[in-house]
Amino acid sequence: MAQATLTILPETLGTISPLLHGHFAEHLGRCCYDGLWVGTDSPIPNRGGFRTDLLTALREVGIPILRWPGGCFADTYHWRDGIGPRASRPRSLAESCGLRVVEDNQLGTHEFIHLCREIGAEPYLAGNVGSGSPQEMMDWIHYCNGSLDTTLARERAANGHPEPMNVRYWGVGNENWGCGGNYEATDYAKEFRRYATFLKMADPSVELIACGHSDRTWNLRVVETLRNHSGYLDHLSVHRYYSAGRATVFTDEEYYQLMRAGELVEEDIRYTDEILRFFMAGRRQVGIAFDEWGVWHPEARGEVNYEEPSTQRDAVSAAGVLDTFQRWCARVSMANMAQIVNVLQCLAQTDGEKMWVTPTYHVFRLYRAHRGAQALRVEVETPTVDAQPLSGYRAGLLPLITASASRREGSVAVTLTNRHRTEAMEVKIVLRDGRFGAGALETVAAPAEAVNSAEQPDNVTLRSQPLAAAGDSLTLALPPCSVQTLVVEA
Ligand code: AHR
Repeated sequence: MAQATLTILPETLGTISPLLHGHFAEHLGRCCYDGLWVGTDSPIPNRGGFRTDLLTALREVGIPILRWPGGCFADTYHWRDGIGPRASRPRSLAESCGLRVVEDNQLGTHEFIHLCREIGAEPYLAGNVGSGSPQEMMDWIHYCNGSLDTTLARERAANGHPEPMNVRYWGVGNENWGCGGNYEATDYAKEFRRYATFLKMADPSVELIACGHSDRTWNLRVVETLRNHSGYLDHLSVHRYYSAGRATVFTDEEYYQLMRAGELVEEDIRYTDEILRFFMAGRRQVGIAFDEWGVWHPEARGEVNYEEPSTQRDAVSAAGVLDTFQRWCARVSMANMAQIVNVLQCLAQTDGEKMWVTPTYHVFRLYRAHRGAQALRVEVETPTVDAQPLSGYRAGLLPLITASASRREGSVAVTLTNRHRTEAMEVKIVLRDGRFGAGALETVAAPAEAVNSAEQPDNVTLRSQPLAAAGDSLTLALPPCSVQTLVVEA
């Protein structure tokens, strides 16, 4: 069996914000309607219109932050359509990613806030820049958060929410370099500045997310234009989607290509960080909000509502991305995988009354152990494989083991991924400044093309086992194509 060594160093990288494990729900295909929302009259068991099986699953994995209502949909959405008695809400034209459908506005602001409270998520609302106005977005903030006795606050109370909703995170548009209005970077930056001036007047405590890009020139021009108004810029968003081969049919070469996702995302973070450091030096620290990421397979097209099979390969590649976010926890302020249910690399899928979770869901469960803990630097000596570039990024050797470690009072959590498609790997884990006590190990391991389904909801699932106290190192045999977290007293 091939061997690797993981050394956990007594060097803290920062606190792993729970927001790094966030999600995204767009009015696109069957994500919001059918996925999350079935309506209060549905025969599918629900709480306040949201399907209860999914609520239970989401509570269990923990959803630290949820971005809504888009995506591209955000720049066509008018929030007033989604408040008031549901029976009298308008039937509007919804547009996102080329899909044009009727939006009956049954899931609006109050329903979304109710969902967030049900699952313990921080709400993140994406505002409309492309077809909206600063006044419209300012009113939305005021409607949600206003504490003075204004007409908008009274209207919120009349609609069932007397207390302010305290929504802290607000996106100022979405992908405004494309679907959000086809802006030039400097034009968007000026528009952002105009919006932000008034949005921070509506509520100075909100945190604004400006639209960034996986194109460095856009980020450079936006941040450069905003450098003298840095007080408005709390976060800069970056989106990254990738694919290699098809969802369930892929060669070894394509399998390893997809494993580059963590490196690809790291490159996006690195150059965005450089730009922010350069222009914001001595001004303020702006967070990188990686608020859309994940696998977008060629199968996920408009005709099938952007749905795709969600395999163990996708889940294992997501672990590399989560390791990257945790390593960069001092700079990445949030991350939201796209999307929470049914669309793209989701946590769960539904078919009528049936609901099942994906292998990616189980990987997110494994990373729960790190939330709020101190990230520790790790060194990995690992076998490698020659892998092709992903989205044009980097050919060459790909490490077969990736890892994250964190410490909290009395314990250490370590997540290890064996990216070898077919072979197990023996890993010696060394703790530099302590001794491993007793603990537990949870593993998700399966063939790369394995999926869960309505018929086989637990085809890929978590296995747990206790770990005996081990001293200053312990050795584990990691199954092929697997992710595992051990939490041990230390
Ligand atoms: O997540 C699907 C779409 O991908 C979003 O609407 C958009 O922001 C991105 O291009």
